Amino acid sequence: MDLGLRGKVALVTAASKGMGKACAMALAAEGARVAMCARTEADLKAAADEVRTRTGAEVLAVPADVTRADQVADLVQRVTGAWGGVDILIANAGGPPRGPFEEMSDEHWQAAFEISLLSVVRLVRAVLPSMKARNWGRILTIQSSSVKQPIPELLLSNAVRPGTHGLIKTLAGHVGRHNITVNTLCPGRILTDRLLSGAKSAGLPQEEYVRRVGADVPLGRVGTPEEFASVAVFLASERASYVTGVALQVDGGLVRGLL
Ligand SMILES: NC(=O)c1ccc[n+]([C@@H]2O[C@H](COP(=O)([O-])OP(=O)(O)OC[C@H]3O[C@@H](n4cnc5c(N)ncnc54)[C@H](OP(=O)(O)O)[C@@H]3O)[C@@H](O)[C@H]2O)c1
Repeated sequence: MDLGLRGKVALVTAASKGMGKACAMALAAEGARVAMCARTEADLKAAADEVRTRTGAEVLAVPADVTRADQVADLVQRVTGAWGGVDILIANAGGPPRGPFEEMSDEHWQAAFEISLLSVVRLVRAVLPSMKARNWGRILTIQSSSVKQPIPELLLSNAVRPGTHGLIKTLAGHVGRHNITVNTLCPGRILTDRLLSGAKSAGLPQEEYVRRVGADVPLGRVGTPEEFASVAVFLASERASYVTGVALQVDGGLVRGLL
């Protein structure tokens, strides 16, 4: 299947590691030009070099923190300046911290809103004009299975991320006439540094931890960033032209609800 991604301009945020990096790699492998951001410059440069070397794609690496309005504006301006606009946005960011209700201050709540929702608002606001001008666009945000089913220890994620999907669903209605699709991706347990960081808190060797967190997933294992990226790339492609406003799990069946 030709995904129709050759020459498209993709912006993937929080892309130096994990699912963001895998999405950047997979889009580049399909012939897209890929702009990537993250806060830590050295990691970002290493990831961008790897994408360039493995795919031969044009890659632009711009250090940026997606919770900073000025840096988001600068990021999108850099991409637009280099390549004339943005066709595909994958709005990704780090996740809010774990912790019980009693330990969450107003600052924690504010930070969760800024990273999981406001960053998406600002990114979408910045890329929409060029998508509308081209009458083509794909907007995806990487959120969590918490959009569908609360995760016991992830209160902030459970409270804020469904609101982000509310934004996405609403936007789908507003921008569909411009041939722009807008969707939320809901990863379950994907083998990234973030997932592995749980091994330390659980006091388990990484291999044992990964085995245990995969055990109650219907597919019997955690997913890989590449499996996640394959779904993201399809939704970002020409072939997914009639899919908009959905929150799609990529979770091996982890979410038990019907919808
Ligand atoms: N892995 C899972 O099983 C899982 C499950 C459900 C949801 N999620 C969510 O999916 C998203 C991606 O997770 P992941 O597992 O791929 O994470 P990861 O492997 O830890 O990678 C996180 C990436 O985000 C960047 N980043 C973090 N905060 C940023 C910011 N403010 N601005 C720009 N870049 C930022 C990091 O680079 P810098 O630190 O250098 O900025 C890094 O490139 C997160 O929101 C996570 O909560 C993950």
